Amino acid sequence: MTELSFPERVRALRAALLDWFSTHKRPLPWRTDYTPYAVWISEIMLQQTQMERGVAYFNRWMERFPDVAAVAAAPEEEVLRLWEGLGYYSRARHLHKAARQIMERHGGVFPSDPARLRELPGVGPYTAGAVASIAFGHDLPCVDANVERVLARVFDIDSPVRQEPAAGRIRALALDLVPPGRARDHNQAMMELGALVCRKKPLCDQCPLASLCESRRLGIVRERPVPGRKATITPLLVATGVLRQRGRIFVQKRPERGVWAGLWEFPGGRVEEGETPEQAVVREFMEETGFAVRVAENLGVIRHGYTTYRITLHCFGLELAGGLAPRPDPPVLAAADEYRWAELRELDALAMPAAHRKLADRLER
Ligand code: ADE
Repeated sequence: MTELSFPERVRALRAALLDWFSTHKRPLPWRTDYTPYAVWISEIMLQQTQMERGVAYFNRWMERFPDVAAVAAAPEEEVLRLWEGLGYYSRARHLHKAARQIMERHGGVFPSDPARLRELPGVGPYTAGAVASIAFGHDLPCVDANVERVLARVFDIDSPVRQEPAAGRIRALALDLVPPGRARDHNQAMMELGALVCRKKPLCDQCPLASLCESRRLGIVRERPVPGRKATITPLLVATGVLRQRGRIFVQKRPERGVWAGLWEFPGGRVEEGETPEQAVVREFMEETGFAVRVAENLGVIRHGYTTYRITLHCFGLELAGGLAPRPDPPVLAAADEYRWAELRELDALAMPAAHRKLADRLER
């Protein structure tokens, strides 16, 4: 292998990848006709999402929104509800805005020019490269975490891949590797190899690039990629309450900016030092809604892991401290844009953060 020049090595890598992909690619639903719309939706969904889950959400999405026009015509609320459970809701809000932009500025036709793609909300270098190459065949790379891992191993990159100088080296290598005219299959092959073979725990005996892999030759595959700084996971103790009044439940919609933007929730918040969860929920209700409430029942604890948080949510059934009001005073919303006194079954139609959905499901049982 050491005898190969760089261009020879590039040629060998391209050929081995394309050959492998032609027989090992998974039959994914957007891999039949590669419409730009389907490729775009799949690429946005697959960011931060496992393939199996992504495919299930993709199929459901396509049934409801078969084309860009259908997304653009839908209320944001419905788009968020369909996204619920995938997390990173800004992806869904951006998709919705981008669909409207495509209708308004591009007459409903998906732009193919990478510069126009980059103007769409939520489309960064990765997504622009993926859509331009996979849907339109442009000779551009796209680099996700799988591709970073493959390149770090094949080219023995000895520093963290998200930081310079490694990041620049990876961008350059990814571009050099794209075989003219074959970007669609090549880019997918790189990602597919990372997902199926060159995994965190690599399966080198199945790898089509094994004889071309520098870190394998050196016996250090397990040391590549070099880990970057680890994200710390913060435990969060939170209390939330289900305030009921005449069979209806109080929910509020979070503002368009910040955490869980645009999602519906039961009010609540952090349990402060020296506070019990019961005290916290009463205080939070006063701060967020102006309602004086008291705890009527304990609804248990829900745990949910997010990317950087691990939430322990203490849940309570609440009643207004003044007893049954003839009509609840309008709340004074401090942490939300909108509120609703919802019937239990109405909660189904509202997009909620995962932990709150778990609580809503508990109420329905
Ligand atoms: N991960 C994200 N996009 C992908 C694609 N097009 N093929 C395989 N894995 C992917």
